[in-house]
Amino acid sequence: MLEFAITLARQTGDYISARSTTDFAVEHKGRIDLVTEVDKAAQERIVSAIERRFPDHGIVAEEGYRKDGGSGYTWIIDPLDGTTNYVHRLPVYAVSLALYRGESPLLGVCYNPAAGELFAAETGKGATRNGTPITVSTTTEFVDALVATGFPYRSQNLEKITARFFRVVTRAQGVRRLGAAALDLCYVACGVFDAFWEEGLAPWDMAAGALILKEAGGRITNLDGSPFDLARGTVIASNSRLHDDLLRCME
Ligand code: IPD
Ligand code: CA
Ligand code: CA
Repeated sequence: MLEFAITLARQTGDYISARSTTDFAVEHKGRIDLVTEVDKAAQERIVSAIERRFPDHGIVAEEGYRKDGGSGYTWIIDPLDGTTNYVHRLPVYAVSLALYRGESPLLGVCYNPAAGELFAAETGKGATRNGTPITVSTTTEFVDALVATGFPYRSQNLEKITARFFRVVTRAQGVRRLGAAALDLCYVACGVFDAFWEEGLAPWDMAAGALILKEAGGRITNLDGSPFDLARGTVIASNSRLHDDLLRCME
């Protein structure tokens, strides 16, 4: 199943990348929440490949597709994570695929076609980038940490969010807002970032990246430090050593 997911992510990402230099229609799902015809076409490709190969698997995909296959297996799919970047022709976006059995993740794959990076993990078997094992960073001091974040499309909570941002900016080495949460998690997994936090995310933004991070030795919780829950939509991800420092910035 991992090989199937890797091939599917690669084929879909390469399609998305090829379309990045063409015209494509853009629609608004919210004031600043965009979807393109490429998101939809990519999702269509992924869903039809899964349905052909695993007709009894369930599917939860961002652009409005849900199916309960009855087998207990569920694919959680973000066909194009980083749509705003993609619309602006910024080459930072990814295809994110995760497979769960019940509540437990089995595998996660995240492919960034513009950089040619494919992150993958299977539960209990570690995480890789382009086939090579990856681990989180060994940074121990928050002042040496490069930390990523993101801002929700819809928020009633802007004061809290900016206060947290202020605390991290003034305590860490630097803060980045990449625009693709699945990649933020993968970049913590491989030690590029030391930590990442965000709220207002959806399960498909995090499902693959969360497993890749855990398998790379990272730690992931909700924003209040409680055990990570895909449905909660908040995330603190770290190399584990800096987890408590980042948690303190969230108070
Ligand atoms: C978005 C990206 C972004 C995050 C947003 C997500 P999309 O996903 O992951 O980094 O800040 O909350 O919705 O819409 O590009 O798939
Ligand atoms: Ca997304
Ligand atoms: Ca998306």
